[in-house]
Amino acid sequence: MARLFIAVELPDSVKHSLSRLRTPITGAKWVPVEQLHLTLAFLGEVDETATGLLLAALSAVKVPEFTLRFSEAGCFPNRSRPRMLWVGLKQNPHLNSLAAQVRSAVLECGIPQEERPFSPHITLARLKQPAGHEVAHFLNQPHPPASSKFAVREFILYQSRLTTAGTVHSPLKAFSLMTGRK
Ligand code: 2AM
Repeated sequence: MARLFIAVELPDSVKHSLSRLRTPITGAKWVPVEQLHLTLAFLGEVDETATGLLLAALSAVKVPEFTLRFSEAGCFPNRSRPRMLWVGLKQNPHLNSLAAQVRSAVLECGIPQEERPFSPHITLARLKQPAGHEVAHFLNQPHPPASSKFAVREFILYQSRLTTAGTVHSPLKAFSLMTGRK
């Protein structure tokens, strides 16, 4: 069994600019900069047979390369009890198509998925305790500039290991998007 998720890796320059959005928040656990990613699907524990099927199903995903732009900072589940701080991404039909095709591929392999709609975000921090005004400061700061856009050329199946030193993400396989080149 392996704990798996599917995500878009971010360029180092984007990770670096996102790390500059960190503000002092008591008890916040900031995602290590090198681990920042855009989750497309979380699979949980998957056995070897289903993983084999998944590799084939993900290879059939067909989406052209596209560019993503950031939207605003936000939190889940709501501003009065924030548990997770994130930066959102502007709606993009290719991103929606990618997430939908990945979801179908996962379901096709018998791996259950949550019902909630895809809401593209990059998690920056997780909070264990309420942190009212400090979170407001994070949410009210200027958004990443519209110029901080990035190209998506592939998506990746990752293994996530929970170790005493923290979570370790290892890429298992990268899947290229369509280039438009013949
Ligand atoms: P998110 O932080 O982008 O919302 C890898 O663990 C990723 O899978 C996390 O970054 C998280 O996405 C997503 N995920 C969704 N449900 C999860 C769960 N129950 N446990 C761990 N990760 C989950």
